[in-house]
Amino acid sequence: MNDIFAIVLAAGQGTRMKSKLYKVLHPVCGKPMVEHVVDNILTLDVNRIVTIVGHGADKVKEQLGEKSEYVLQSEQLGTAHAVMQAESILGDLEGVTLVVCGDTPLIRPETMKALFEHHVAQNAKATILTAIADDPTGYGRVIRDDQGQVAQIVEHKDATPEQRLEKEINTGTYCFDNKALFEALKLVNNNNAQGEYYLPDVIEILKQKGEIVTAYVCEDFNETLGVNDRIALSQAEEIMRERINKKHMANGVTIINPSMTHISIDAEIGRDTIIYPGVVIEGKTVIGEDCVIGPNSQINDSTIGNRTVVKHSVVQQSVIGEDTSVGPFAHLRPEAELGNHVKIGNFVEVKKSKIGDESKVSHLSYIGDAEVGKNVNIGCGSITVNYDGKNKHKTIIEDNVFVGCNANLVAPVTLRTGSFIAAGSTITKEVPKDSLAIARARQENKIDYAKKLK
Ligand code: UD1
Ligand code: CA
Repeated sequence: MNDIFAIVLAAGQGTRMKSKLYKVLHPVCGKPMVEHVVDNILTLDVNRIVTIVGHGADKVKEQLGEKSEYVLQSEQLGTAHAVMQAESILGDLEGVTLVVCGDTPLIRPETMKALFEHHVAQNAKATILTAIADDPTGYGRVIRDDQGQVAQIVEHKDATPEQRLEKEINTGTYCFDNKALFEALKLVNNNNAQGEYYLPDVIEILKQKGEIVTAYVCEDFNETLGVNDRIALSQAEEIMRERINKKHMANGVTIINPSMTHISIDAEIGRDTIIYPGVVIEGKTVIGEDCVIGPNSQINDSTIGNRTVVKHSVVQQSVIGEDTSVGPFAHLRPEAELGNHVKIGNFVEVKKSKIGDESKVSHLSYIGDAEVGKNVNIGCGSITVNYDGKNKHKTIIEDNVFVGCNANLVAPVTLRTGSFIAAGSTITKEVPKDSLAIARARQENKIDYAKKLK
């Protein structure tokens, strides 16, 4: 068996993105492009993976962490120069090296594997992954000889008008015999339109040495899209979104309008869950079976149990139990933790609070820094007064408490089991078990006085 190495090119600035964020860190369906590439490579059996970093090196390393080894390309002199930087790590090794650009996030592991297998089967020193583009503008063109064999790659900027008509493009993904690669790299020069050391020049160099150079054509150009600007970024997002949505539908999730449903690559969704249009599911969100999500809900990094309904709501870094209902128009802020059979209704905000099984906060409430027990009812408009301008304080509401409408629970405060808070109360002291607390001015009726006011 061949040892397999991988090199990911991620040192460029990405000028055409016109962005403060380094190109390869731009997310597609919630994950930076370069991380898609690295994660895909990691699903293959590679012995080592080396990412070439330069612009934004620290940020790229921080993002990828231990998934890769790194070498620094301190000056970006071109893709051949970038690969050359890996010589210190890989130069002496026997094996096959897969090279992938950090800005081609859509290339599937299956395609990389097929490329590798073709390379090995052809006993080639180099194999390029190519594709047929309707509009090849900007890509390197694959120039074939009379026998139809790959002869060279010509960059768009260096191509003659005739060569530009060529629709077969270099996707920027290759397999090389590792030693042949590093030997050929030494012969690459920068006599071209961009004054750069081009990796594709290695193809012609190996070809002229009489080595076997082949191409493997990827059937779907969409998969090989190189993201150089925001337009391509939006195209990549669309292609990836479609792929993700199809995967969930194949797994038994109903997505009513896939073109209006955005699901991050890391999300998991159970069977028979229905997703309405306008839903955005971000990060590592896990949604159970038989849920109804949407329309227009945004959920990030949250866990939602089976048979739960979330409508028109924003859910951030929260945990929601089973058979629970959220919304319409609720906002679960980070660290909201809802139990089973809970109801969070219209215009309710919950932050850093636990709400126990069977409890209800049905309308117009703010629950922050609270621990709410089981079977608690929080009446319309009641809130926790958790902030004194300097510090946040905790509200504890034990099981079976009934809070009437429009109560202010001034924290720190505890409402003991079974207690009952009269509507309109401002509670500042602990309420003992099974007690009624009324904290509001008494009503006075002035008989017939209203007539004088009219
Ligand atoms: C490159 C190919 C082109 C191919 C296209 C596919 C070259 C010269 N051209 O063009 O044939 O059709 O990809 O998408 O290779 N990078 C570095 N260091 C550098 C320069 C680039 O690490 O010095 C990295 C970039 O961060 C990027 C990748 O290499 O991830 C490709 O560079 P880019 O400038 O996007 O090349 P293209 O012009 O797209
Ligand atoms: Ca590119």
